Amino acid sequence: DNPEDLKERPAVVTIMGHVDHGKTTLLDQIRHTKVTEGEAGGITQHIGAYQIEHDEKQITFLDTPGHAAFTSMRSRGAQVTDIAILVVAADDGVMPQTKEAISHAKAAGVPIIVAVNKMDKEGANPDRVMQELMEYGLIAEDYGGETIFVKMSAVQGEGIDELVEMIVLVSEMEELKANPDRLAYGTVIEAELDKGRGPVATLLVQNGTLNVSDSVVVGNTFGRVRAMVNDIGRRVKVAGPSTPVEITGLNNVPQAGDRFLVFEDEKKARSIGEARAQKALEQNRSSTAKVSLDDLFE
Ligand code: GTP
Ligand code: NA
Ligand code: MG
Repeated sequence: DNPEDLKERPAVVTIMGHVDHGKTTLLDQIRHTKVTEGEAGGITQHIGAYQIEHDEKQITFLDTPGHAAFTSMRSRGAQVTDIAILVVAADDGVMPQTKEAISHAKAAGVPIIVAVNKMDKEGANPDRVMQELMEYGLIAEDYGGETIFVKMSAVQGEGIDELVEMIVLVSEMEELKANPDRLAYGTVIEAELDKGRGPVATLLVQNGTLNVSDSVVVGNTFGRVRAMVNDIGRRVKVAGPSTPVEITGLNNVPQAGDRFLVFEDEKKARSIGEARAQKALEQNRSSTAKVSLDDLFE
């Protein structure tokens, strides 16, 4: 992409942390606090990824784990996230998956914001959390470091605004850009076989704009985008950079963590998709197809 074609894009924020420390509750709160009034009543979270708007800035959130995607993406090195929110329950402190999350975020080289959650609980001890995290190089400003810590209670809605503001602050420093005017590519967040609709894949568009009827290779599958549904269950015709969408129209079910790429030529998409599926069959491992999509990226 030419630098002059690049435009600002929303940050993709991944919520990480130990089991039951409040990741999904936190995301639900952000969604309910931040979606526009008109929509708030009718919204059901359609996919495990969604966007909010804050001060006219969009932010894309991905929940983990629940998503097989995450482990799969991590193990395959796909990088989808710009900022990691590390949720640590104030009464529980640093736990095994907290450490795992830290090492993944560090490996990805993305900034970490710590959300010290469950501050409403009797045993809440945020200082202990801060001290424990120092061992992992996450040093709070109170302790002379630079890591942003936000104390919060996801159930009570405390600290949500501050957290969102910190996310905006950090994303502004990242200068995130993409070219909305090119053919789309990105990563599969999750995929399944739906009885009525056939293969359904939630994609995160990372660059370009995805359109209905685009010819696309998704992992070892291919097809034309038949329909797209956004994060609140609405039909859409286009999805720009950093947008999660659910698509139908693929010949098979791809895997979480697979890359996708749009082709101008439907025949080319089909032949590449078929070649990849064939290679995968031969290797008996769909995740190691040799016709790499990555090779096709500019
Ligand atoms: P997994 O996806 O299973 O890893 O869990 P999670 O991190 O998404 O946690 P989840 O949001 O499912 O919350 C787990 C439990 O903690 C639920 O019972 C929540 O109601 C509770 N919980 C979440 N946030 C808070 C909080 O701020 N205060 C209190 N008291 N409970 C909370
Ligand atoms: Na849970
Ligand atoms: Mg959860």
